Amino acid sequence: MRKNIVAGNWKMNLTLSESVSLIKELKTKINQDSLENTRVIVAPTFVNLFAATEVVEDTMIEVAAQNMHFEDNGAFTGEISGKMLQEIGVNTVILGHSERRTYFGETDEILKKKVEKAIENNQEVIFCFGEQLEERKEGKHFEVVTSQVEKALFELGAENWKNIILAYEPVWAIGTGETASPAQAQEIHAYIRKFIAENYSSELAETISILYGGSVKPANAKEIFSKPDVDGGLIGGAALKADDFTAIVNATI
Ligand code: PGA
Repeated sequence: MRKNIVAGNWKMNLTLSESVSLIKELKTKINQDSLENTRVIVAPTFVNLFAATEVVEDTMIEVAAQNMHFEDNGAFTGEISGKMLQEIGVNTVILGHSERRTYFGETDEILKKKVEKAIENNQEVIFCFGEQLEERKEGKHFEVVTSQVEKALFELGAENWKNIILAYEPVWAIGTGETASPAQAQEIHAYIRKFIAENYSSELAETISILYGGSVKPANAKEIFSKPDVDGGLIGGAALKADDFTAIVNATI
């Protein structure tokens, strides 16, 4: 059975003390015993990752990074490598978020290199993809999402997909309060799963967790997560509030 995953993408929010107290609050609020098939991940900003790994110790909460570079080290001012993350106990990384693509110029080619580096390091990747509003209006959303997934991931060997989690995040739904309907999410998730099945195998496609992201909140999480091809969510704004994030985690049960 595929794992449900609820991952909180904290983006450029929360100082060290705020990050530590949010995790401490989550530790008391999330009932770990009820979450047999759900993984809970938080992704604080880089400077707070190490502290986060210490605070989550002895819990089922995992810590992920929001980005990494495709080289191990070198003259790349301001960048962070996968090796640096691994040494502080962070083995999961979000790659391809639309904010990275839009504001920081991350192309399919760059993302392919990042994914390949993560795989070489045996890191786990939460790979984001999703169409812009204009692309959906023009009916190009299927084409856009398959192209993003294909360009960054389809040169991976089948054995490497055990390290891949997908996150469909329609750009028009991120931080806007507008959510894709459960049917719209299901449609893209099923389409991507079929695309993976056609290029690899249906056995492999059935094992891949595909998260939905874009204005998920306690009020809509249950219905979105109930769709057969939606295996949890990547949560932005609502991940910054312990009660909301806990309610979204509980919506996977
Ligand atoms: P949102 O962000 O939940 O605030 O829409 C989701 C994301 O960007 O991962």
